[in-house]
This record gives sequence, C-alpha cells and structure tokens, in this order.
Amino acid sequence: MNNFTFYNPTKLIFGKGQLDQLKNELEHYGKKVLLVYGGGSIKRNGLYDKVLAILDEAHAEVHELAGVEPNPRLTTVKKGIAICKEQNIEFLLAVGGGSVIDCTKAIAAGAKYDGDVWDIITKKAPATEALPFGTVLTLAATGSEMNAGSVITNWETNEKYGWGSPVTFPKFSILDPENTYTVPKDQTIYGIVDMMSHVFEQYFHHVSNTPLQDRMCEAVLRTVIEAGPKLVNDLENYELRETILYNGTIALNGMLQMGYQGDWATHNIEHAVSAVYDIPHAGGLAILFPNWMEHTMDENVTRVAQLAERVFDVDANGKSEKEVALEGIQKLREFWTSLGAPSRLIDYDINDEKIDLMADKAMANGEFGKFKVLKKEDVVAILKASL
Ligand code: NZQ
Ligand code: ZN
Repeated sequence: MNNFTFYNPTKLIFGKGQLDQLKNELEHYGKKVLLVYGGGSIKRNGLYDKVLAILDEAHAEVHELAGVEPNPRLTTVKKGIAICKEQNIEFLLAVGGGSVIDCTKAIAAGAKYDGDVWDIITKKAPATEALPFGTVLTLAATGSEMNAGSVITNWETNEKYGWGSPVTFPKFSILDPENTYTVPKDQTIYGIVDMMSHVFEQYFHHVSNTPLQDRMCEAVLRTVIEAGPKLVNDLENYELRETILYNGTIALNGMLQMGYQGDWATHNIEHAVSAVYDIPHAGGLAILFPNWMEHTMDENVTRVAQLAERVFDVDANGKSEKEVALEGIQKLREFWTSLGAPSRLIDYDINDEKIDLMADKAMANGEFGKFKVLKKEDVVAILKASL
C-alpha cells in the first residue's frame, strides 16, 4: 500500500423516514437557504412538498434554483452563484441526483470566490472556501452525496470537467431508499453501471498488497450484480433500493481507495463524449469500460483475470490468464447488456465523425490514466472499438 490520509467529514443519514432529521441538521446553519433541484421529479413524487414543509418549520427563508440539468451546466451554476451573492445565502440544500449535488458544490465554492467559477472547475484556482451545503439524495449512482467531487459542463465550449476540494464535502446527506422509488428503469440501470464503474476505476492499479481493498471492491461488485437485475424488475422493492443506494455511496466515498490511486481514464473519456454529445454519463461508461479493459489489460493481466474469477465466476481451469481476463470482460458486457444498458456508441447515434474531437477533449489536460497512461492514439483506439 502507499501511505495515505483518509478524510471524509460528511454525516451520512441513511434509512426509511430519515428526512425527519433534516430539521435538526438545519439548526446548525443560517436561515437563508437556497434550495437546488432538477427538472421536476421531486415535484412529481411529493418530495419537494415534504422538504418545503420542513424548511418552513425550521423558519428558513427559502430561495430556489430549479431546473438543474442532467450533466449540469456552467450557466446554471452561475445563476445559483448570482442568487447566493444577491440574497446573502447562508446554506444550500441540494435535493436530487448527482447532477443537482454537483451543481450545488460548484455554486457553494463559486459563491465564495471573487473570480469566474470556471477557474475552479478547470483547476486554475483552488476552492479554498465554500458555503455549507447538505443533500437529500434521490438517485443511487454517483457517490457525490459523500464525496467532494463535482462534474460541470461548459456547453458553449463543449468541455466537461471533474474537480473537487476538501471544502466541497456535503455537511450531511440524507439517503432514504424510498426517495429513489420513482427513479425510472433507465436511470436505475445507469446508476448500477456508474457505481460498478467507480469500483473498476479504483480496482485497476499497480500498487502491491491491497488484499482488503480488493475484497472490498469485489464485495461491492458482487452485491450490485446480485441485487441490480432484481431491482430493475421490481423498482419499488425497499430492500433492493436500500442495497443499491448504500452500494452507490460506498463505491465512491473514498473507502475503497485507501492506499492507492485509481485509474479514472474511462471517466475522463466519457466526460469528453458527453461534453460533445450530452449523453447520460453511465450510458457512455457502459459502452467504453469493457473496451478500455481490453485495450489496457496487458498492463497487468493477472489483475483483470482476478476480477474475472472472483467477480464473474470465470472458471480458470486449463485457460491462460489472458483467456480468463477476456472471458471476464465479455461477462461484464453481457451483464450490462442484459440489464438494458447500451453497448455501442451507435446506440446514441454517435458515429466516427467526431472521434478526433472527442479524443482532443479527453487530452485537454495531457496524458491521463494510472493503470495505463493513455495517449491520444489510445483514446482514439478505445473510441473506435466502441463504435
Ligand atoms: O432533474 P430531475 O427532474 O430531478 O430528474 C432526474 C434526471 O432527469 C432523474 N431523477 C433523479 N432522481 C429521481 C429522478 N427521477 C425520478 N425519481 C427520482 N427520485 O434522473 C435523471 C438523472 O439525474 P442525474 O442527477 O443527472 O443523475 P446522476 O445521479 O447519475 O448524476 C449524473 C451526473 O453526475 C456526474 C456525471 O458526470 C453526471 O453529470 N458524476 C459525478 C460524480 C461525483 N460528483 O462524484 C462522479 C460520477 O462519476 C459522475 O461523473
Ligand atoms: Zn461515474
């Protein structure tokens, strides 16, 4: 293992009825609250009314930023910052999925920054201060509810970047599985793909002696593989929603990544694809990840074979490590396809026309990836294999 420091100050409030805790949590912060939410799902499923009633009981002065897009946009972040500055907002409450939470993080940091928030998102300036914020999560996927990361798209320049800072951890996150009942089938599938991808990003590394981390990663993957297919056919099953919700948080709250750094190349390529085509994040991952694995497996085929055996139950008898690894990757493809996830870029009407542009976007900050350092030609090869 490498030396490490683990820091995660987010208070996780998990389970049925836990929205009741919101009033107590709000007592620690100022009364001027900006409520941030998406395109209306929380109004349709009644969560908006419940949250407003609690804010009212807490005597909060509520301002609203509605309409945060999936793949949240810089323009929306700027709208939120303007409200914060004009109204002297003291606390932000994100009610939604990863996009709403990521947007809230950027608003929180931008409200305390004198320059253009894009400087922070592009890492030209660090976020050293942020308004405090909490979240009520409605979709199991990103882990944003318990990490400091945020991904924002500048639609004018077709750039989508992830950034984060120790000051952008949520103060608290309330996760009630029932608040995810109305997540439609496709978004439920995307969530499953995303959390599995987060584990893959961390699992492929070259640091030795990580047996517990490996087993923890494998446990998350096996649990999701067991519960995921049942959930997509039984969307209001409490226990399955609970299992998937908890897995999504554990997959990206830093617990799995102690003692080594993950790869994160596939996420970088996906962000370039969705910056150009605005496709769902995990739809892109489902297409790209198996192809990234095939492209990079020779860096440490033992590790890929280990995943194949331990997570996808590939029988290694009489086979080379490479055969085992390839069989595992094929099983991953089949698993995601069986859930209903896309497997080719053409599923989103993406052809080879803009491969070069997407590869350039992915290369914007130079070579990337830790399991295998990718150059432009690698990115082009992975995108071509994904057509
Ligand atoms: O906007 P509303 O109306 O709320 O609808 C949303 C949206 O259309 C809907 N939804 C959410 N909760 C619902 C619901 N519909 C019905 N019932 C509910 N309870 O689902 C749609 C997708 O929501 P979104 O927040 O975009 O999904 P997700 O949580 O997958 O977030 C995706 C974003 O997170 C970024 C991605 O790049 C993408 O921009 N990521 C953030 C990460 C992080 N901060 O750590 C890591 C991830 O790898 C990822 O890159
Ligand atoms: Zn992701």
